Amino acid sequence: MKELLLETAERAAQYLGGLDSRGVAPSGEAVARLQALDGSLPQKSSDPFEVLALLDAVGSPATVASAGGRYFGFVIGGSLPAALAANWLAGAWDQNSAMQVMSPVAAKLEEIALAWMLDLLGLPSGSAGGFVTGTTMANFTALAAARSALLQRAGWNVEEDGLFGAPAIQVVVGDEVHVSLLKALSMLGLGRARVTRVPADGQGRMKPDALPSLSERTLVCVQAGNVNSGAFDPAGEICARAHNAGAWVHVDGAFGYWAAVSPGYAPLLAGAGEADSWAIDCHKWLNVPYDSAVAIVRSPEALRSAMAMTAAYLTPGGGREPWHYAPEASRRARGVELWAAMRSLGRDGLRELIERNCRQARLFADRLRAAGFAILNDVVLNQVLVSFGSDDLTRRVITGIQNDGTCWCGGTQWHGHAAMRISVSSWATTEEDVERSVRAMVRIATEEKAHNGH
Ligand SMILES: Cc1ncc(COP(=O)(O)O)c(C=O)c1O
Repeated sequence: MKELLLETAERAAQYLGGLDSRGVAPSGEAVARLQALDGSLPQKSSDPFEVLALLDAVGSPATVASAGGRYFGFVIGGSLPAALAANWLAGAWDQNSAMQVMSPVAAKLEEIALAWMLDLLGLPSGSAGGFVTGTTMANFTALAAARSALLQRAGWNVEEDGLFGAPAIQVVVGDEVHVSLLKALSMLGLGRARVTRVPADGQGRMKPDALPSLSERTLVCVQAGNVNSGAFDPAGEICARAHNAGAWVHVDGAFGYWAAVSPGYAPLLAGAGEADSWAIDCHKWLNVPYDSAVAIVRSPEALRSAMAMTAAYLTPGGGREPWHYAPEASRRARGVELWAAMRSLGRDGLRELIERNCRQARLFADRLRAAGFAILNDVVLNQVLVSFGSDDLTRRVITGIQNDGTCWCGGTQWHGHAAMRISVSSWATTEEDVERSVRAMVRIATEEKAHNGH
């Protein structure tokens, strides 16, 4: 076993060491070679060293180099050294984090990670948290707590009696709501299409003046960090109005909520801490390995009502039992990497990471603007939207950048026009990575323009 693990470490280190000199997207040939992993299931056992060698030889070249410093697609963080190392150790531990009795260390690390996150993000101490795979599930988990509490107030027990015949819940979202929040609503029986959509301003922020009338059976979903522009809904004003009416406010703070750790960026979140629940991603800006997010709910009773389960053979310990707060029972010990990431960065290191990525986003915007391209959003955080000219040209430049391999950026539609998204979310990104990526972008855009006369 030891030799195998040492060889794995060697291969992993070689992989990470090679990221700087390879294309960010895998080559077409590397992807085609994945077929070598297929074939009929072997009848006989194989040597683990051979299995690993095949996986590395065929699998590693077909990865996307998102662990490196020049991946700016979607919102994807890297893995901090301490978090990756902790993830390996946790793999060896192979703990089931469902219950304290199954893993005291996993349960304890969840408690610590939750308390540290509440502290770092300025959220109410005593809030409950469920450790889940990503923000989609964090939204789902927190919104299940909201559904439970809102219906309980109306005298309806949704966990026991379901939604058929239940009093209606009015769900309010901004027009720029992330699609994963709508998916969470759909999984909860609250429906994607029956929501009230509130118009957004030019940056994608919900207009609070356009809120419908709210009641104690309303669920208002606020966004902290628009996936395209990085903009924040005005949470303070929305929370004040919602709470006057007795409504529940949920904040989808996937990546944006980490702004709270910086005195310079925290004002973007003003009032968001007044909400009732929050979805916070950790595989994005906290830079822990996939997958990891936390659903945080001010009222522990609401989260427990929605998530707790009991059975005679599942003996609960004293204190916080992890499986009372998340959709799953058996699951991996995500608290391990969260603890390691926060322990290694410390308050200052995390603030520095967030501020550095925001600075790098502004550097992208400044350089591209100076090269004559349009920056479509106010760069308030780590997201930049770029137009290279016509929609067609912008799309061709994005494809050219992806094929070139120096860096990787995706596309989107912003106010009806094609745009390239740059999301700077990795601890591994250096200023030189930004400069090198800008040089490639400008070269490719200039070539595309020249070839096609736009
Ligand atoms: C605002 C927002 N909400 C939700 C999500 C979905 O997160 P996940 O992919 O972790 O489920 C994202 C992803 O980028 C996001 O930006």
